[in-house]
Amino acid sequence: MLDGKHIILGITGGIAAYKSAMLARLLVKAGAEVQVIMTPAAKEFIAPLTLSTLTGNPVISEFFTANTGEWHSHVDLGLWADAMVIAPATASSIGKMANGIADNMLITTYLSAKAPVFVAPAMDLDMMAHPSTARNLSYLRSYGNHIIEARSGELASHLVGKGRMEEPENIVAYLEVYFSRHNDLTGKHVMITAGPTYEKIDPVRFIGNYSSGKMGYALAEEAAKRGARVTLVSGPVSTSVSHPSISVVRVESAVQMLAAATKAFADADVAILAAAVADYAPAEPSEHKIKREGNEPPEIRLVKNPDIAATLGQLKKDGQHLVGFALETDNEMANAADKLKRKNLDMIVLNSLKDEGAGFGTDTNKITIIDRDGTAVSSSLKSKKEVATDIFDHIIAKF
Ligand code: C5P
Repeated sequence: MLDGKHIILGITGGIAAYKSAMLARLLVKAGAEVQVIMTPAAKEFIAPLTLSTLTGNPVISEFFTANTGEWHSHVDLGLWADAMVIAPATASSIGKMANGIADNMLITTYLSAKAPVFVAPAMDLDMMAHPSTARNLSYLRSYGNHIIEARSGELASHLVGKGRMEEPENIVAYLEVYFSRHNDLTGKHVMITAGPTYEKIDPVRFIGNYSSGKMGYALAEEAAKRGARVTLVSGPVSTSVSHPSISVVRVESAVQMLAAATKAFADADVAILAAAVADYAPAEPSEHKIKREGNEPPEIRLVKNPDIAATLGQLKKDGQHLVGFALETDNEMANAADKLKRKNLDMIVLNSLKDEGAGFGTDTNKITIIDRDGTAVSSSLKSKKEVATDIFDHIIAKF
């Protein structure tokens, strides 16, 4: 599970740092590429030479290498990593992480990291028991970091209590479980539609909507992170993707989106239709810019756009799973359930425009997932990233 994974191993200044050498060794043995970042205090406990030898990579500790002036980009490191493991994490470093005190390379990289972060605290029992440690750890949890709890036992001070860093082999096992759960779409092709469509009135004007594409893009990132090959058929948005397994097909109109989506659906295992497709398009877009001078306001005759979801619902074969979205203002459940049947979907994700923070443009969403058998699961207001995780957890569990 860790084969080929890029892992940043952050080491802070505690006596348990001697165990980090074993952790580095086990991660390398499991196939990971390991980049160690040490805080200045950590170097008092274990020599960088030990870690650079075990990992095959020079240890980073400062913002730049003094004699060459080589700058270490915390942003690049943060993007490179598939996971960041901070072991041991001292009370001081946990406090800095909780509060964004970026006074060394490790904390700066932590603040830039896009990957999941795992924190293995280690400290004396009284420090562990202090309310500030508990509060700072709860902050880290609220940021989505994974805390690998310290154990009880004899400590370096010879006192007995909670504060021993989890054993290196258990930290590796924790990561393996995490990655196995997050590789559940390996070998699958996921197609996602996202964003609005623009329907041309003339060369400079269109009919569109306020969709930002954020939900569809979050779904694409989540699917790719879980190992899928992703085709993201996207209407015009300013959102971008970073994962290399996502290929983006950019389209403008509903007709173009239908063509791209149908093509990608042919070998897709899962398709999620998160795009806000315009229902109507101008029947005869003008080839020239419609002029105001001397003209009456034009009448724009509209024609119906194709329903991409319903078309794919017709084409759907055994083993393919089709998920739609419904953005409703009233009679939400009944309308969504009706859409699910009418379009031959397997699942529909309902977001209500009545819920504050849900729907277009926001970074958050509040959803209800409805299955074919009518069961509905509602969740609280969450980030679109978290919602994407919930949706795929549900898809995996169901299909
Ligand atoms: O009918 P309504 O637009 O509310 O249905 C919403 C669902 O259908 C969404 O999943 C949306 O992406 C999809 N849809 C589509 N093509 C359309 C209209 C909606 O794929 N023309």
